[in-house]
Amino acid sequence: MILLGVNIDHCATVRQARYRDAAATTGGAVEPDPVTFALAAERAGADGITVHLREDRRHIQERDVWRLRESIATRLNLEMACTPEMTAFALKLKPDFVCVVPENRQEVTTEGGLDVVGNKKRVRACVEALGAAGIQVSLFIDPDEAQIELSAKLGAPFVELHTGAYANAYYTPKREKEFQRLRLGCARAHDMELTVNAGHGINYVNIAEVRTLPHLHELNIGHSIVSRALFTGVDEAVREMRTRMNE
Ligand code: PXP
Repeated sequence: MILLGVNIDHCATVRQARYRDAAATTGGAVEPDPVTFALAAERAGADGITVHLREDRRHIQERDVWRLRESIATRLNLEMACTPEMTAFALKLKPDFVCVVPENRQEVTTEGGLDVVGNKKRVRACVEALGAAGIQVSLFIDPDEAQIELSAKLGAPFVELHTGAYANAYYTPKREKEFQRLRLGCARAHDMELTVNAGHGINYVNIAEVRTLPHLHELNIGHSIVSRALFTGVDEAVREMRTRMNE
């Protein structure tokens, strides 16, 4: 059974498109509320809720994260940049999981995995500080052998393999090569005793192939579920994805 973490960032993206300058981000006419979305996703069977508190606060706000911490019944997975500020925030919040992601102000969404090899000292400090506080750390990396091996050596219990390059190549001749990279990455991570998650760009079509990757523990899926929920509602969007993940 592959678990489903529902990433609700893009519910907040829609809210911020209209209410970015509103003093309060909840109640009244300010919608859609990402916490309401998260609770509906949980009722539909989501195993966890994922949010990315970006440095530029373009979608999820700090207040959303605190409200989620108080209200959700499953697990809170905080995606964050590898900075001392975000580490301090996570230590106060105490989410169940932290997924460390790269962050570049210009990007529309996360592009490319975290360069653990090039930022060894910083990543180690982050993994150690969060791990000591009982927070499970995951590193969001490309399915690259050197990144996987160093993630294990730094003591991260989880990796989340970036499925974005595969998803982008889905309708091109490069798809098989990207899928093979993911397959080998999952196997290598499992050999290194890492728990293997995956995410980015997974949708209701490519899930048929993604779900066949070996050793998958959890998938983090956001955009496709939020998009489908516009037409079917959150309940059906989440149930349909869970069904397709575990057919
Ligand atoms: N996992 C990580 C680490 C991400 O940064 C994102 C995008 O925010 C996702 C999963 C979800 O990607 P998508 O919205 O394309 O499903």
